[in-house]
Amino acid sequence: MKRSIIITGGAGFIGSHVVRLFVNKYPEYQIICLDKLTYAGNLANLKDLEGKPNYKFEKVDICDFDAVLSLMKLEKVDGIIHLAAESHVDRSIKDPFTFAKTNVLGTLSLLQAARLCWEPVGYEGKRFYHISTDEVYGALEMTRPDGVNPPFTTKASSGSHHLAYGEEFFTEDMKYQPHSPYSAAKASSDHFVRAFHDTYGLPTVVTNCSNNYGPYQFPEKLIPLFVNNIRLRKPLPVYGKGENVRDWLYVEDHARAIDLIFHEGKAGETYNIGGFNEWKNIDVIKLLIRTTDRLLGRPEGADDDLITYVTDRAGHDLRYAIDSRKLQSELGWEPSLQFEEGIEKTVRWYLDNQDWLDGVTSGDYQKYYDEMYRNR
Ligand code: NAD
Ligand code: TYD
Repeated sequence: MKRSIIITGGAGFIGSHVVRLFVNKYPEYQIICLDKLTYAGNLANLKDLEGKPNYKFEKVDICDFDAVLSLMKLEKVDGIIHLAAESHVDRSIKDPFTFAKTNVLGTLSLLQAARLCWEPVGYEGKRFYHISTDEVYGALEMTRPDGVNPPFTTKASSGSHHLAYGEEFFTEDMKYQPHSPYSAAKASSDHFVRAFHDTYGLPTVVTNCSNNYGPYQFPEKLIPLFVNNIRLRKPLPVYGKGENVRDWLYVEDHARAIDLIFHEGKAGETYNIGGFNEWKNIDVIKLLIRTTDRLLGRPEGADDDLITYVTDRAGHDLRYAIDSRKLQSELGWEPSLQFEEGIEKTVRWYLDNQDWLDGVTSGDYQKYYDEMYRNR
């Protein structure tokens, strides 16, 4: 079947993996990557797709309603996979307005454009897929600080470290309790998406995923920042005591879930995505140091002294842990990669792509748009 799909935020970390998956897997679809190219958007993330007949890039701000609407009409779009967002909690603490504008008003602009295009012709065959985060649910207690076996295991959590840090998990019917301006803005956008389903019948689907890791993540987030700092022997700023728990998922497993849910998820539904793979930050950091040192030929642990405990993040959520059994049982999705394998693969990618890291940290990557599109 032919389809015309806009993927917003496709030049960012997760978006670039989703665009790549769709362009390569569905040659019959037209894939339009729509991105404003903020500091987090990088066309180098999509270089291998340039020139593919079913791929197109459009530099558009999702908050620009007229631009979104005319692109949707021009391209006869029948699907939107919406990832564009401001995504870094620390930035949201410094600049909450930008987060409200992009994440809330930007989502509203897409919803309204989709509705105006689709309502008159009928919603059959249309889909608005909103990608959200587990952070909207707030933070879980750490009732098992030393960790116990999780009630469910997946490939992601099947390694030597096999722990849950509490009895409670985020389920789809959990109350929203966001704490950071980032998660508050994402929560608000989720509400708007559901409101458009309930009020106008827009065929929406929402997913809330746990922390992603893998290639092409902007080195302001924990894993790429720390790999970059270890390689350059720079301090590793650990917030608080490093005891906070995150539930990590390899980015390509998230992209596979998005593909499945875009095609088979039920309209109006929410699915949580995660691999029952909880880690304390300090344990992730030690694993990163061991892996990076080994791959760089340094004695393992040689860079332990880079660990630097710094003032905790304001409102730092203690524990995230996703219950993804609905997605597993209803649609048959499962993660494919065990965490230590995924970390090895990820660290290796950053070390093999030090030009990418240098380009991103120096700001050079922001020239790619001009270089690629100057003469078109
Ligand atoms: P990212 O920051 O790497 O990428 C965001 C992309 O959105 C960038 O390409 C940026 O240029 C683009 N963008 C920002 N503002 C825009 C605007 N106004 N108009 C058009 N494009 C704009 O983010 P990411 O980590 O890839 O996250 C993607 C989505 O997934 C976000 O919605 C985020 O909330 C969600 N999510 C992320 C994680 C994670 O661990 N990274 C986990 C769960 C959910
Ligand atoms: P991050 O990658 O920013 O993702 P999120 O805040 O969305 O979970 O951070 C992951 C965890 O690592 C979080 O508990 C904060 C912590 N952290 C540090 O300790 N130091 C850092 O420099 C960063 C960026 C994060």
